[in-house]
Parts: sequence; C-alpha cells; structure tokens
Amino acid sequence: MFDYLNKDEHLAPLKPYIAGKSTKEIAEKYNLDPVSIIKLASNENPRLSPLVLEKFKEILLQKNDDYLLNIYGDALGERLISAIKNNFPEIGNAEIVIGNGMDNILESIARLILRKGDQSLITVPSFSYYEMISRWAQAEPIFIPTYNDKEQNFSLNISDILEKFNSKVKIIFLCNPNNPTGAYINIKEIETLAKEALKKEIFLFIDEAYIDYSEEDSFISKVQNYKNVIVGKTFSKAYGLAGQRIGYAIIHQNLLNLYSKVQTPFAVNKLGLIFAETVLKDKAFLRETIEINKQGREYIFNALKDFNFKVFKSYANYISFFVNDLFKDAEDFFIALLKRGIIVRNVSSKFSNSNHIRVSIGTMEQNRKFIKALEQEIKERSINK
Ligand SMILES: Cc1ncc(COP(=O)(O)O)c(C=O)c1O
Repeated sequence: MFDYLNKDEHLAPLKPYIAGKSTKEIAEKYNLDPVSIIKLASNENPRLSPLVLEKFKEILLQKNDDYLLNIYGDALGERLISAIKNNFPEIGNAEIVIGNGMDNILESIARLILRKGDQSLITVPSFSYYEMISRWAQAEPIFIPTYNDKEQNFSLNISDILEKFNSKVKIIFLCNPNNPTGAYINIKEIETLAKEALKKEIFLFIDEAYIDYSEEDSFISKVQNYKNVIVGKTFSKAYGLAGQRIGYAIIHQNLLNLYSKVQTPFAVNKLGLIFAETVLKDKAFLRETIEINKQGREYIFNALKDFNFKVFKSYANYISFFVNDLFKDAEDFFIALLKRGIIVRNVSSKFSNSNHIRVSIGTMEQNRKFIKALEQEIKERSINK
C-alpha cells in the first residue's frame, strides 16, 4: 500500500530525522547520573534570560488578557515585528516576517520560490534543512563543495556558485556563519553574489542563525536594496529560546505581498511571541551570552589544538574539528565521549571527511568538564596504544 510514495523519486534520497537520544536513555545505557550529562550537540544557548522566567511567572498568574491560552494569538506576530523593527532600525524599509522557527520560514520560502524541476544551490557541508525543503518542493538541490581533502580545509569561492547559474536555478542557500564549519563569509563577497544573482532573477537566502556570536557584519541593513535577498534569523540561539520555536526573516518590501500568500498563519504560539518580545529587551542577557561564548570558544579552541586535533576557526557558538588518530573516526570519538556523559555531534558526511565533530560551546563549567573528559580519554588511549 502507498507504494507510489515509497517509490517517489523526490522522497527516496531523504532520510528521516533522527533526534538525539534523551539524557535519560544515555544515562541508562552507560550507567551515568542523568544530572551529570552535558549536551553540547545542538548549538543551544546554555542559559535562559531571567526576564523570560519572570514573564513566565506573570503569565501563570494570568494578569493580562494577552496571556489567555484559550484565545488565538497574533496571527502574523505584528507586535513582535514592530519590536524587532525598533530594535534593529538598520533594517530600514525592508519588511519582517515571523515563523515557527527559521525552519518554518524556510518551508514557506521553498513553497513560494521552488517548483518541480527547479534547482537550488547549496554550499556544503551546511545545514541539512536546505536540501530537505528543496526536495519537498520537487526541486533539485545542487551541492557546491567547500571541502578540500588534500588540504583538509574548507573554503568557499563565490565563483564556484556563479559557475552553477543557469535558467533552472531559483535560489541559493548560504549559511553565515556556516553550520557546521563555523566559517564566516565577508558581506562584500555576498553583495557580489547578490548582484549577480539578481541579474538572473535568482533569490539568495542568507541564514544568519549564528551571526550574533560573530562580531562581524550582518546583511540585514542591505536587504532593503536587494529585491532578491532574504535574511533568516532566529531566537533559538543567542536569544536562548530554542524550545519556543520563533524565527524571522528580513525580506525586501516588494516581496511581502507574495510571501504573505504562502506563510503559515498563527505559526508561532502565543507564549513564544511574548517571550521573544521579552528577550529582545534583555540587553544584558545578550551581552553576557556573547561574552561567555567568546571565552568558551577560545578555551575549547586552544585545548583542542593542544590535543593535536585539526580545529577550524569559528564565528559561532560551536567549534568544528577533525579528531586525531587516537580515534578510529568521529563515531568512535562520539561514543567515547558519550560514555563519559558528554554529548557532541558527529557531523561527518560525504561533503567532509569521517573524522568531523562539532561541539557546542556551553557554560564555562560545562566546557571544562568536556575538556577534562577528553583529556582523560586521550590519556587512557595513549597508554594503551
Ligand atoms: C544554520 C541554521 N539555520 C536554522 C536553524 C533553525 O533554527 P530554528 O530553531 O529557528 O528553526 C538552525 C538550527 O539549528 C541552524 O543551525
């Protein structure tokens, strides 16, 4: 039954999403205390804004009609949109749209732009969702490799993207800073790409999920000048609200009417919208988040280098590296750390090599525990070698 779906050529290359194991499952499997397990696998913020907690308490006391959960919320998130516009005046004349996480915005964008037989250009390795939404739209993802096996390095040349332009290409997905490598592309280069793409009526989606951690320029102030550029943002990372699923995008003013035809109404739950508005006001939380991340990133970077791993400079809240030959491959490393109660991510793929790991930056205490566990593992392996 439903063979037509099982045999569907667009679904065949997709693999079901496998969520990481819960800390409870890991604790049982490896006989660990669940409280001691540290998750550094999904690039979440290890902290939550205290203002959000305060707001949560206020909501529980139902002091305001806005909090009634039996009544639908703001269908398009208009209040949050004005709060974002006030917070980032550099957005200027561009427009903002809200979604159930940036993922939901990406789905709407694919619905708007991609048709059967179209192509999307995706630099790889990168966030896997770009491929998924392209295939759902029956478009063909064209991968642009950035990994050089000989030099064991990642580098992106804009000319490699330009070379792939043809009449089937409708959108380019560019993640900046890139997940999982952590690399940042200068916005001057992105502007060159945006201009060339515009000439061919190709859209450019710039995913800035991690830009707050980078101290580098965002593209948001330039969107108003580019009819073809969309910048994706999220409250899941530096703003610490991954569990609430709130994303947004900055789009050119001329695109709003078209986008409105494909967006999911009431996409974000009522509490999510309120929490996003609240955390925007918590400037101290954002400042501390960036500072804690910067210190942790430097600490982990140096420690991994000292262990003789190939470590990549990161502009985000994670570090990407290749494990050394004390480990068979990234999976061996992943399991070894899991047994010690630390969850990292094996990001090996055909677009990189089999030794590729990504670790999220946690609190300084978590970072130290990660490095200590790794030191222990390396020591034992060196003795037994
Ligand atoms: C590069 C990138 N873009 C988008 C997302 C999704 O963000 P959201 O939680 O807003 O759906 C993620 C999540 O990990 C990500 O890594």
